[in-house]
Amino acid sequence: MVATKIDGKAFAETVRRDVASRVASLQADHGITPGLAVVLVGEDPASEVYVRNKGKQTRECGMASFEYKLADTTPEVELLALIDTLNADPAVHGILVQLPLPGHINSDKVLNAIDPAKDVDGFHISNVGLLGTGQKAMVPCTPLGCLMLLRSHHGKLDGLNAVVVGRSNIVGKPMAQLLLRDNCTVTIAHSRSRELESIVRAADIVVAAVGRPEIITGAWIKPGATVIDVGINRIESDGRKKLVGDVHYESAAEVADAITPVPGGVGPMTIACLLANTLTACCRSHNLPEPAGLTA
Ligand code: GUN
Repeated sequence: MVATKIDGKAFAETVRRDVASRVASLQADHGITPGLAVVLVGEDPASEVYVRNKGKQTRECGMASFEYKLADTTPEVELLALIDTLNADPAVHGILVQLPLPGHINSDKVLNAIDPAKDVDGFHISNVGLLGTGQKAMVPCTPLGCLMLLRSHHGKLDGLNAVVVGRSNIVGKPMAQLLLRDNCTVTIAHSRSRELESIVRAADIVVAAVGRPEIITGAWIKPGATVIDVGINRIESDGRKKLVGDVHYESAAEVADAITPVPGGVGPMTIACLLANTLTACCRSHNLPEPAGLTA
């Protein structure tokens, strides 16, 4: 059996088109343009690429993009002052502060300074609490993207055994909450879990977000499972640099029913879900119906 390749690139394109058409209706019917502010502190090359792509895709779907590039020596108070300004700006419906932040800045303090209603990353402590208690929250973009891919492939996830490998605040923990909300039986495992292999082998759904190149191989996968690979690892193999996930794609694809590739799987979904979250935040702030199918 060769697994179905879950095409995140194509799915992200349909999400972006959906967002763009709803943005056009918002403008036509209500004169409202959703706006996303992205703040980058410092000059991390990978973060610069992400931020550029976020701005480009925001504009392409008809939203307003506000970009702030601050020096890596920017004092924390200055960043907090910018967030206050953005919180108060009615043209800004979503605020994203790109992580990681330089070491002299307290990331938690900064993330918790964002108005929770504009927290399109879903990292504010009140959104974390709302998600954990099953209330209406802003949901982190990468787990939301994974959930959309899973729902589109599987339909209902009720009763399935899901194993999330990785316990980060950005992916692992919110992913587990979302799967629980969709009635999966959820296990969170991580790099220190004993018997990781047998834990993974019990899973109908594997979400790999542990940051270890190709740690999960086909031998670990239950036949017929669905595998979502969140890993993005740059490695050198045979003298060539390449991008691989946390799952060894070729061997896993021989056993799984469906699997996301790296690149072209989960990655493109993250920015698509950021756009979806910005639209959701905008609709909520204007007491308009939420965009069905684009939220958790
Ligand atoms: N850095 C890596 N991933 C993310 C993300 O999802 N949001 C933010 N703000 N920074 C990141």
